Amino acid sequence: MTQTEENTTISNDTPLVPIEKIVSLSKRRGFVYPNSEIYGGVAGIYDFGPLGVELRNNIKRYWWWSMVQRHDNVVGIEGANITHPTVWEASGHIENFVDRLVDCKKCKRRFRVDHLAAENLEQHKCPVCEGELTTEPRVFNLLMETYLGVVEGDRMKTYLRGEACQNIYLDYDNVLKSSRVQVPFGICQIGKAYRNEVTPGNFLFRQREFEQWDLQFFVHPSEMDKWFEYWKEYRFEWYSGILNHKDRLRFREHASDELAHYAKKAFDIEYRTVLGWQEWEGIHWRQDWDLTRHSQYSGHDLSYTDPNTKERYIPWIVETSGGVDRTFLNLLLDAYEEEPDPAGKEARTVLRLHPWLAPVKVAVLPLQKNKEELVQTARSIHQNLQRFMVSQYDDVANIGRRYRRQDEIGTPFCVTVDFQSVEDQTVTVRERDGMTQIRLPISELTMYLLDRVTWK
Ligand code: GAP
Repeated sequence: MTQTEENTTISNDTPLVPIEKIVSLSKRRGFVYPNSEIYGGVAGIYDFGPLGVELRNNIKRYWWWSMVQRHDNVVGIEGANITHPTVWEASGHIENFVDRLVDCKKCKRRFRVDHLAAENLEQHKCPVCEGELTTEPRVFNLLMETYLGVVEGDRMKTYLRGEACQNIYLDYDNVLKSSRVQVPFGICQIGKAYRNEVTPGNFLFRQREFEQWDLQFFVHPSEMDKWFEYWKEYRFEWYSGILNHKDRLRFREHASDELAHYAKKAFDIEYRTVLGWQEWEGIHWRQDWDLTRHSQYSGHDLSYTDPNTKERYIPWIVETSGGVDRTFLNLLLDAYEEEPDPAGKEARTVLRLHPWLAPVKVAVLPLQKNKEELVQTARSIHQNLQRFMVSQYDDVANIGRRYRRQDEIGTPFCVTVDFQSVEDQTVTVRERDGMTQIRLPISELTMYLLDRVTWK
């Protein structure tokens, strides 16, 4: 039994959505494409299509708004993907950022030691064919190498960043000196990270190029507990607020033998899908690991002097580190539903994305496309709405089919322009989830929609 099959049976509510449904929808409707597909693709690397980039941007903007713009003591940066190579020695990644692998001598499959069940590990038994596993794990570093410079023999080897947050420690002193923050304060960043994952897979879940959102919150050691709890709860509530299936979210504390090299304590926020309970974001107690190590390796003192007490110390760090791509995937898995048609016709595929995040906020649909007065009114409504939100104009196919098309991409509202609209300047607004319809004056439409699609 594969991990996917096994975990499908643990659901006791709405069935868990198979990843294949999301892969198919993503390709069909322009959310996600395999990278370099015409050359056969590259494992663990994806591109985002027209709807994908809208959804992704909305998710990132909402995170930035919640984390940076809504907190007086948090600022943002955007660091480069390439850094000085010594950064990765100081961070501990050259030494510790490794996967240990064993091979099956019979079926030749390769397994990460930390993904194997204890029974398979102890008996050296392949979980797929029961053949014999190699006993001495081989060790692979996940950092991706790159080279700077053009002259052969004089090129500098460095790495694409293996975790985006390193730039925050590198810029910490510059932020302190160039802005008015004081401990306790945070620095946020959204940016790409690169890992030579040995087993990329499950669509966007484990990729080789992906994006992370990080907060590094710098505190006095005596306040570490308080801030760790604050951000842990805040991040949980943040995810919970954009989910339909809130019961599929939980915390899991790391056992001491699974802690990353930089963490003294860690909780994962996990979400349950067909892959089982899986990490979505990590809340890490990084303590003084990063600033101490970068002080040592760079020779640049990164300690902080309290302006009031004059106490000098290395601030401790609470990290919240999540994946933009995992959020994208989890939200699609959470939102996707095939709803049986009571009339027994075609099932309705609907993406119940939060209206704040949906890639298209409204579709404007003239009832008929060959009636000039309907088309003119609909086009003018669409053009006005475009000033405030993503609006689509659609006059192809019958109205039922057009509603279905929008349901499938998660558009929360459809505005239908009919003959009455031309007479009394009202339109029908149809809501995606309940398919309820109300009639509204055109003059009230923008405010009605803005109120529902703007995050608060
Ligand atoms: N700075 C800490 C850090 O990088 P991590 O747990 O390795 O911690 C944080 O990564 C988040 O990044 C994970 O919770 C996950 O959402 C995302 N992530 C990690 N590896 C990933 C991969 N190969 N593909 C997609 N997302 C990944």
